[in-house]
Amino acid sequence: MVRIGVASGALTNITSGLLAVGLHHREEIPQDLGGALTDVLSDGDFSGKEGETALLYVPGALASPRLLLVGLGECSSFNLDKLRCVSATVAKRASTLKLDQAAFALPAPNGSETREAAKAAAEGALLGLYRFDHYKTDEENHELETFTLISDDEDAAAAGIEIGTKLAAGTILARDLANEPSNTATPEYLAVKACVIADRYGMHVVVLDRTGIEAESLTGLATVGRSAKNEPRFIVLEHRKGGEEAPIVLVGKAVTFDSGGISIKPSVNMGEMKYDMSGGAAVLGAMEAVGSLDLPMNIIALVPATENLPGGDAFKPGDVLKLHSGKTVEIVTTDAEGRLILADALSYAKRYDPAAVVDCATLTGACHIALGDHASGLMGNDEELATKVRNAGEVCGERAWPLPLFAEHTEQIKGDTADIRNSGGRYGGALTAGAFLKEFVDYPWAHLDIAGTAYYGKPKNAYTPRGASGAPTRLLIEFLRGQAKDQSKEA
Ligand code: BES
Ligand code: MN
Ligand code: ZN
Repeated sequence: MVRIGVASGALTNITSGLLAVGLHHREEIPQDLGGALTDVLSDGDFSGKEGETALLYVPGALASPRLLLVGLGECSSFNLDKLRCVSATVAKRASTLKLDQAAFALPAPNGSETREAAKAAAEGALLGLYRFDHYKTDEENHELETFTLISDDEDAAAAGIEIGTKLAAGTILARDLANEPSNTATPEYLAVKACVIADRYGMHVVVLDRTGIEAESLTGLATVGRSAKNEPRFIVLEHRKGGEEAPIVLVGKAVTFDSGGISIKPSVNMGEMKYDMSGGAAVLGAMEAVGSLDLPMNIIALVPATENLPGGDAFKPGDVLKLHSGKTVEIVTTDAEGRLILADALSYAKRYDPAAVVDCATLTGACHIALGDHASGLMGNDEELATKVRNAGEVCGERAWPLPLFAEHTEQIKGDTADIRNSGGRYGGALTAGAFLKEFVDYPWAHLDIAGTAYYGKPKNAYTPRGASGAPTRLLIEFLRGQAKDQSKEA
């Protein structure tokens, strides 16, 4: 991973393979870059529009051989997420030029502090440079070594960089796990990764195998995973740095491959269903950051992990299961498997008497249809918690948008032979899935449906390439950081 550094001083004196300077739309060239550049602007080759770049060679004018002008767009609408994109654009250009070093004059979005700007710039550069290419056998890759942010306030910038780097590292772990194909990323593979995180940060980890899952009556997980040769795992990762405080529990759906089971999916794009463990990947990515940030709180991660495959021993439409909570469920479709394994994890979470539980899951195609790929669906039973989760998403550029859970949605999933059924039909699919989960919680709870945001068929923006986005890893971390601050205020 590229090292993000910090330096200060006149731009003309910065020595780096590339010096990048951001300019707003129609903004004047900064004084210290001198008259050498006026032509580019007056000729109209570069006007500072968002995403625009101009690479200049101005021998003698600067200590750096190359100058990259990058457009920041309108000053009034520039924000931290646009800064992430600009920073990613600079880092990627330096990498394409096969440079070892690049420097970027840190722009300050309206009203933001140096620390927040540096954090966003670090995230943008690290996430923008991300590639998942270790299966390409003939790719020779150039890696940028250092990316230096130029700022007058070096201390504040360094503090921001440290946090941004940890958020990016968590996100990159989540991306790596989700991008990894299902023949590698099995439930056991995720369990091993959880153990590595636990080892690194002194967390407590428990991994239940098939026998343990059955012994704990995690029937949904046991049933969905029954016909798969790669056996299911129930992963519990505990970060206990908050004394007697009630913990926050994160739950992530990890279906390492969702074929639909007996209710098999169409074969077109079925390969995308390797991403059906993105919720679990994000929870593990968040725990990596929880460890490296050493948050002074109690945080528990629960990751039910399984494949969903057809087979002679597979569960079938019409079957009735008694889930961990004791509720009975009629299986309408074996493709609505995520809510079955989440239901078990959510009722398992009760033993912690949690202050709050946030789950994330690639749960419904309907959520993707409803919100497009521009926001995760946010549901729950607690306004205050939902607001915090939504704000956390806003801060980090992983937007979550509220969706309702009406009593009528719960009506829609009432069962004929059992208490409830695992599908409420075509209409309001994201909401009936949320209503299903709601049956298993008795604590403040928020649910993120990330079916539309967990992965992209083409790049989403400059720092989110094709493939797994890592969302909502940074949302979860920002939410937890906010809670940590709240708790220390109360104390
Ligand atoms: N993993 C899928 C949801 C999904 C679909 C995520 C497409 C990402 C992209 C989930 O298990 C599923 O199959 N849901 C069904 C539910 C339905 C059968 C009630 C769906 O969305 O069609
Ligand atoms: Mn499914
Ligand atoms: Zn699924």
